[in-house]
Amino acid sequence: MSAALSPIDKAKFVAAKRAAQFVENGMRVGLGTGSTAAWLVKCLGERVQAEGLRIQGVPTSSRTAYLAREVGIEVISLDEARWLDLTIDGADEFDADLHLIKGGGGALLQEKIVATASDRMIVIADATKQVDTLGAFPLPIEVVPFGWQTTKTLVEELLTGLDVLGHTASLRMNGDAPFYTDEGNHILDLHLKRIGNTRQLSLVLNQVPGVVENGLFIDICDTVIIGYGDGRVEVHDAEAGEIDSERFDFLETDNIFTEVED
Ligand code: 5RP
Repeated sequence: MSAALSPIDKAKFVAAKRAAQFVENGMRVGLGTGSTAAWLVKCLGERVQAEGLRIQGVPTSSRTAYLAREVGIEVISLDEARWLDLTIDGADEFDADLHLIKGGGGALLQEKIVATASDRMIVIADATKQVDTLGAFPLPIEVVPFGWQTTKTLVEELLTGLDVLGHTASLRMNGDAPFYTDEGNHILDLHLKRIGNTRQLSLVLNQVPGVVENGLFIDICDTVIIGYGDGRVEVHDAEAGEIDSERFDFLETDNIFTEVED
Protein backbone atom coordinates (compact mmCIF):
# COMPACT_ATOMS: atom_id res chain seq x y z
CA MET A 1 0.00 0.00 0.00
CA SER A 2 1.28 3.43 -0.86
CA ALA A 3 2.25 5.52 2.19
CA ALA A 4 1.98 8.70 0.16
CA LEU A 5 -1.78 8.57 -0.26
CA SER A 6 -3.95 10.03 2.49
CA PRO A 7 -7.18 8.14 3.35
CA ILE A 8 -9.24 10.75 1.52
CA ASP A 9 -7.04 10.47 -1.57
CA LYS A 10 -7.32 6.68 -1.43
CA ALA A 11 -11.11 7.01 -1.23
CA LYS A 12 -11.18 9.31 -4.27
CA PHE A 13 -8.72 7.10 -6.14
CA VAL A 14 -10.66 3.85 -5.69
CA ALA A 15 -13.96 5.52 -6.61
CA ALA A 16 -12.32 6.90 -9.76
CA LYS A 17 -10.65 3.59 -10.57
CA ARG A 18 -13.97 1.73 -10.29
CA ALA A 19 -15.74 4.35 -12.42
CA ALA A 20 -13.06 4.09 -15.11
CA GLN A 21 -14.07 0.43 -15.52
CA PHE A 22 -17.43 1.58 -16.88
CA VAL A 23 -15.71 3.23 -19.85
CA GLU A 24 -15.54 1.18 -23.05
CA ASN A 25 -13.82 1.53 -26.40
CA GLY A 26 -15.44 4.08 -28.69
CA MET A 27 -17.32 5.89 -25.93
CA ARG A 28 -17.78 9.63 -25.78
CA VAL A 29 -17.27 10.51 -22.14
CA GLY A 30 -18.05 13.68 -20.21
CA LEU A 31 -15.14 14.48 -17.91
CA GLY A 32 -16.04 16.24 -14.66
CA THR A 33 -14.20 18.89 -12.71
CA GLY A 34 -12.65 18.85 -9.24
CA SER A 35 -10.12 16.80 -7.32
CA THR A 36 -12.07 13.52 -7.54
CA ALA A 37 -12.79 13.96 -11.25
CA ALA A 38 -9.10 14.71 -11.79
CA TRP A 39 -8.31 11.22 -10.49
CA LEU A 40 -10.80 9.80 -12.96
CA VAL A 41 -9.11 11.62 -15.83
CA LYS A 42 -5.78 10.25 -14.68
CA CYS A 43 -7.19 6.70 -14.40
CA LEU A 44 -8.61 6.96 -17.93
CA GLY A 45 -5.28 8.30 -19.17
CA GLU A 46 -3.66 5.21 -17.67
CA ARG A 47 -6.07 2.99 -19.59
CA VAL A 48 -5.42 4.93 -22.82
CA GLN A 49 -1.67 4.44 -22.41
CA ALA A 50 -1.68 0.87 -21.07
CA GLU A 51 -4.57 -0.74 -22.97
CA GLY A 52 -4.93 1.48 -26.02
CA LEU A 53 -8.43 2.48 -24.85
CA ARG A 54 -10.00 4.64 -27.57
CA ILE A 55 -12.32 7.33 -26.20
CA GLN A 56 -13.21 10.93 -26.86
CA GLY A 57 -13.56 13.15 -23.80
CA VAL A 58 -15.72 16.24 -23.40
CA PRO A 59 -14.27 18.24 -20.49
CA THR A 60 -16.46 20.34 -18.21
CA SER A 61 -13.82 23.01 -17.59
CA SER A 62 -10.61 24.41 -19.00
CA ARG A 63 -8.75 22.78 -16.07
CA THR A 64 -10.08 19.35 -16.97
CA ALA A 65 -9.38 19.91 -20.68
CA TYR A 66 -5.76 20.68 -19.87
CA LEU A 67 -5.37 17.58 -17.68
CA ALA A 68 -7.13 15.30 -20.19
CA ARG A 69 -4.79 16.34 -23.00
CA GLU A 70 -1.82 15.95 -20.68
CA VAL A 71 -2.69 12.30 -19.98
CA GLY A 72 -3.35 11.50 -23.64
CA ILE A 73 -7.15 11.57 -23.88
CA GLU A 74 -8.56 12.91 -27.17
CA VAL A 75 -10.54 16.01 -26.30
CA ILE A 76 -13.55 17.17 -28.31
CA SER A 77 -16.18 19.85 -27.65
CA LEU A 78 -19.79 19.08 -26.74
CA ASP A 79 -20.83 20.62 -30.05
CA GLU A 80 -18.65 18.08 -31.83
CA ALA A 81 -19.95 15.19 -29.71
CA ARG A 82 -23.60 16.36 -29.54
CA TRP A 83 -24.45 13.46 -27.21
CA LEU A 84 -22.40 11.38 -24.79
CA ASP A 85 -22.48 7.78 -23.63
CA LEU A 86 -21.42 8.56 -20.11
CA THR A 87 -20.38 11.43 -17.84
CA ILE A 88 -18.32 10.85 -14.71
CA ASP A 89 -18.00 13.71 -12.24
CA GLY A 90 -17.58 14.49 -8.55
CA ALA A 91 -20.12 16.15 -6.25
CA ASP A 92 -20.18 18.29 -3.14
CA GLU A 93 -23.16 16.47 -1.63
CA PHE A 94 -25.47 13.63 -2.62
CA ASP A 95 -28.55 12.24 -0.90
CA ALA A 96 -30.36 8.88 -0.92
CA ASP A 97 -32.24 9.83 -4.13
CA LEU A 98 -28.87 10.61 -5.78
CA HIS A 99 -29.76 14.28 -6.01
CA LEU A 100 -26.65 16.42 -5.87
CA ILE A 101 -25.15 19.74 -4.97
CA LYS A 102 -22.38 20.60 -7.41
CA GLY A 103 -20.36 23.67 -8.25
CA GLY A 104 -17.82 23.77 -5.45
CA GLY A 105 -15.20 24.02 -8.18
CA GLY A 106 -17.16 26.68 -10.04
CA ALA A 107 -17.94 24.54 -13.10
CA LEU A 108 -21.61 23.74 -12.45
CA LEU A 109 -22.96 25.22 -15.69
CA GLN A 110 -20.80 23.20 -18.07
CA GLU A 111 -21.11 20.18 -15.75
CA LYS A 112 -24.91 20.31 -15.86
CA ILE A 113 -25.04 20.78 -19.63
CA VAL A 114 -22.64 17.89 -20.20
CA ALA A 115 -24.30 15.53 -17.68
CA THR A 116 -27.74 16.27 -19.12
CA ALA A 117 -26.44 15.45 -22.60
CA SER A 118 -25.35 11.97 -21.47
CA ASP A 119 -27.06 8.59 -21.48
CA ARG A 120 -25.72 8.02 -17.99
CA MET A 121 -24.14 10.10 -15.21
CA ILE A 122 -21.89 8.45 -12.65
CA VAL A 123 -20.81 10.45 -9.61
CA ILE A 124 -17.63 9.51 -7.79
CA ALA A 125 -17.18 10.62 -4.20
CA ASP A 126 -15.70 9.81 -0.85
CA ALA A 127 -18.19 8.95 1.89
CA THR A 128 -18.10 12.45 3.44
CA LYS A 129 -20.23 13.69 0.54
CA GLN A 130 -23.20 11.51 1.52
CA VAL A 131 -25.91 13.44 3.42
CA ASP A 132 -29.45 12.85 4.65
CA THR A 133 -30.61 16.27 3.47
CA LEU A 134 -28.89 18.55 0.98
CA GLY A 135 -27.88 22.05 1.97
CA ALA A 136 -25.09 22.05 4.55
CA PHE A 137 -22.71 22.69 1.65
CA PRO A 138 -23.41 26.20 0.30
CA LEU A 139 -25.40 25.91 -2.93
CA PRO A 140 -23.55 27.61 -5.80
CA ILE A 141 -25.51 29.50 -8.45
CA GLU A 142 -23.92 30.97 -11.56
CA VAL A 143 -24.98 34.59 -12.22
CA VAL A 144 -24.08 37.04 -14.97
CA PRO A 145 -21.75 39.83 -13.79
CA PHE A 146 -24.18 42.56 -14.96
CA GLY A 147 -26.15 43.68 -11.91
CA TRP A 148 -24.98 40.79 -9.77
CA GLN A 149 -25.65 42.71 -6.54
CA THR A 150 -29.29 43.21 -7.56
CA THR A 151 -29.50 39.51 -8.46
CA LYS A 152 -28.07 38.65 -5.04
CA THR A 153 -30.68 40.81 -3.28
CA LEU A 154 -33.50 39.28 -5.32
CA VAL A 155 -32.29 35.75 -4.54
CA GLU A 156 -31.96 36.49 -0.81
CA GLU A 157 -35.51 37.92 -0.72
CA LEU A 158 -36.77 34.87 -2.56
CA LEU A 159 -35.12 32.52 -0.09
CA THR A 160 -37.05 33.96 2.85
CA GLY A 161 -40.24 32.47 1.38
CA LEU A 162 -38.80 29.04 0.63
CA ASP A 163 -38.25 25.83 2.61
CA VAL A 164 -34.63 26.52 3.58
CA LEU A 165 -32.99 27.34 6.92
CA GLY A 166 -30.53 30.03 5.78
CA HIS A 167 -31.21 33.01 3.52
CA THR A 168 -27.87 34.64 2.76
CA ALA A 169 -25.69 34.61 -0.33
CA SER A 170 -22.03 35.50 -0.78
CA LEU A 171 -20.06 36.34 -3.88
CA ARG A 172 -17.36 33.76 -4.50
CA MET A 173 -13.91 35.35 -4.53
CA ASN A 174 -10.60 34.43 -6.08
CA GLY A 175 -8.23 36.17 -3.68
CA ASP A 176 -9.22 39.83 -3.66
CA ALA A 177 -11.16 39.68 -6.93
CA PRO A 178 -14.50 38.06 -7.80
CA PHE A 179 -14.23 34.52 -9.14
CA TYR A 180 -15.02 34.14 -12.85
CA THR A 181 -16.31 30.90 -14.34
CA ASP A 182 -15.15 29.56 -17.71
CA GLU A 183 -18.29 31.22 -19.14
CA GLY A 184 -17.27 34.62 -17.73
CA ASN A 185 -19.88 34.63 -14.98
CA HIS A 186 -19.78 34.97 -11.18
CA ILE A 187 -20.80 32.44 -8.53
CA LEU A 188 -23.06 33.23 -5.58
CA ASP A 189 -22.85 30.69 -2.76
CA LEU A 190 -26.19 30.30 -0.98
CA HIS A 191 -25.89 29.48 2.73
CA LEU A 192 -29.09 27.49 3.13
CA LYS A 193 -28.02 24.99 5.83
CA ARG A 194 -30.92 22.69 4.91
CA ILE A 195 -32.96 22.44 1.70
CA GLY A 196 -36.47 21.14 2.37
CA ASN A 197 -37.76 21.14 -1.21
CA THR A 198 -35.00 20.76 -3.79
CA ARG A 199 -37.25 20.72 -6.87
CA GLN A 200 -39.06 23.90 -5.90
CA LEU A 201 -35.81 25.67 -5.05
CA SER A 202 -34.18 24.70 -8.33
CA LEU A 203 -37.15 25.87 -10.40
CA VAL A 204 -37.59 29.14 -8.56
CA LEU A 205 -33.90 30.10 -8.58
CA ASN A 206 -33.71 29.71 -12.35
CA GLN A 207 -36.62 32.15 -12.76
CA VAL A 208 -34.58 35.05 -11.37
CA PRO A 209 -33.18 37.28 -14.13
CA GLY A 210 -29.40 37.15 -13.91
CA VAL A 211 -29.29 33.58 -12.62
CA VAL A 212 -27.87 31.35 -15.33
CA GLU A 213 -28.04 28.00 -13.54
CA ASN A 214 -27.99 26.50 -10.05
CA GLY A 215 -25.91 23.67 -8.61
CA LEU A 216 -28.81 21.32 -7.77
CA PHE A 217 -28.66 18.21 -9.97
CA ILE A 218 -32.07 16.56 -9.68
CA ASP A 219 -32.85 13.33 -11.57
CA ILE A 220 -29.60 13.67 -13.52
CA CYS A 221 -27.30 11.27 -11.66
CA ASP A 222 -27.90 7.55 -12.28
CA THR A 223 -25.14 6.00 -10.18
CA VAL A 224 -22.92 7.03 -7.28
CA ILE A 225 -19.65 5.25 -6.59
CA ILE A 226 -18.52 5.81 -3.01
CA GLY A 227 -14.86 5.25 -2.19
CA TYR A 228 -13.43 4.56 1.28
CA GLY A 229 -9.95 5.04 2.65
CA ASP A 230 -9.48 1.29 3.17
CA GLY A 231 -9.98 0.57 -0.54
CA ARG A 232 -13.67 -0.37 -0.43
CA VAL A 233 -16.00 0.91 -3.10
CA GLU A 234 -19.79 0.78 -3.19
CA VAL A 235 -21.80 1.27 -6.34
CA HIS A 236 -25.25 2.75 -5.71
CA ASP A 237 -27.77 2.90 -8.51
CA ALA A 238 -30.76 5.26 -8.50
CA GLU A 239 -33.15 2.47 -9.44
CA ALA A 240 -31.52 -0.71 -8.11
CA GLY A 241 -30.07 0.61 -4.83
CA GLU A 242 -26.66 -0.81 -3.85
CA ILE A 243 -25.65 -3.08 -6.68
CA ASP A 244 -22.01 -3.78 -6.05
CA SER A 245 -19.33 -3.64 -3.37
CA GLU A 246 -15.67 -4.58 -3.69
CA ARG A 247 -12.22 -3.74 -2.43
CA PHE A 248 -9.18 -2.45 -4.30
CA ASP A 249 -5.56 -2.92 -3.25
CA PHE A 250 -3.16 0.00 -3.47
CA LEU A 251 0.06 -0.48 -5.33
CA GLU A 252 3.29 1.44 -4.94
CA THR A 253 2.72 2.68 -8.49
CA ASP A 254 -0.43 4.42 -7.28
CA ASN A 255 1.98 7.06 -5.97
CA ILE A 256 1.70 8.74 -9.36
CA PHE A 257 -1.80 9.77 -8.44
CA THR A 258 -0.52 12.05 -5.71
CA GLU A 259 0.59 14.33 -8.54
CA VAL A 260 -3.03 14.95 -9.47
CA GLU A 261 -4.22 18.36 -8.48
CA ASP A 262 -7.56 19.96 -9.07
C1 5RP B 1 -16.95 21.35 -9.52
C2 5RP B 1 -17.74 20.33 -8.82
C3 5RP B 1 -16.98 19.21 -8.16
O1 5RP B 1 -17.38 18.02 -8.73
C4 5RP B 1 -17.29 19.22 -6.70
O2 5RP B 1 -16.95 20.49 -6.18
C5 5RP B 1 -16.49 18.14 -5.96
O3 5RP B 1 -15.13 18.45 -6.02
P1 5RP B 1 -14.04 17.54 -5.30
O4 5RP B 1 -14.02 16.25 -6.02
O5 5RP B 1 -12.75 18.32 -5.45
O6 5RP B 1 -14.46 17.41 -3.86
O7 5RP B 1 -18.93 20.34 -8.77
O8 5RP B 1 -17.75 22.40 -9.98
